[in-house]
Amino acid sequence: MAKVLIAYYSRRGENYVNGSIRSLSKGNTEVVAEKIKALIPQADLFHIDTVRQYSPSYMTCIEEAKQELRSNARPEMKEKLSNPEQYDTIILGYPNWWGTMPMVCYTFLESFDTSGKTIIPFCTNEGSGMGSSERAIRQLCPKAEIKKGISIHGAEAASSDREASLIASMTK
Ligand SMILES: Cc1cc2nc3c(=O)[nH]c(=O)nc-3n(C[C@H](O)[C@H](O)[C@H](O)COP(=O)(O)O)c2cc1C
Repeated sequence: MAKVLIAYYSRRGENYVNGSIRSLSKGNTEVVAEKIKALIPQADLFHIDTVRQYSPSYMTCIEEAKQELRSNARPEMKEKLSNPEQYDTIILGYPNWWGTMPMVCYTFLESFDTSGKTIIPFCTNEGSGMGSSERAIRQLCPKAEIKKGISIHGAEAASSDREASLIASMTK
């Protein structure tokens, strides 16, 4: 059976939840990634993280993220994925930041050869859905098969069992 990787970026701290700012001890995307991992125990879980941490303040973080998007930045990853060639399928989870993925997900997808791999994107968000992230993934991974992404309302991450099952079933 294909070896599956669940790679995700997620940020703890203040976030915008159902119209107000709340501090999250665990990020929404991380909550969903862990649900998927529980359904595919043989999959590896990889936390995409940045060397430079974003501000825990929501208002500061959105400005930092806007600057990175504008400058098409490639934030440095804390840790690189080891032995990427062993994975046939990559479930890639991220929050919607300004209509696309956080720029470190661009760094991640450029850090190894994705040719021939299947990528299953999922995105937690406060209403913008997948935004343009699927197009960005197609551009970054022209030789990969990109499945239609699954959008999850961030505030409902804790009850996203149906979506997590759907994502897990797409790996078969
Ligand atoms: C920098 C930043 C930008 C965001 N931009 C959007 C956006 O454009 N559209 C949207 O629906 N939600 C946006 N959000 C909300 C997040 O996508 C949402 O809260 C997500 O579930 C957070 O996931 P996380 O806790 O795993 O980081 C943004 C949040 C942050 C911090």
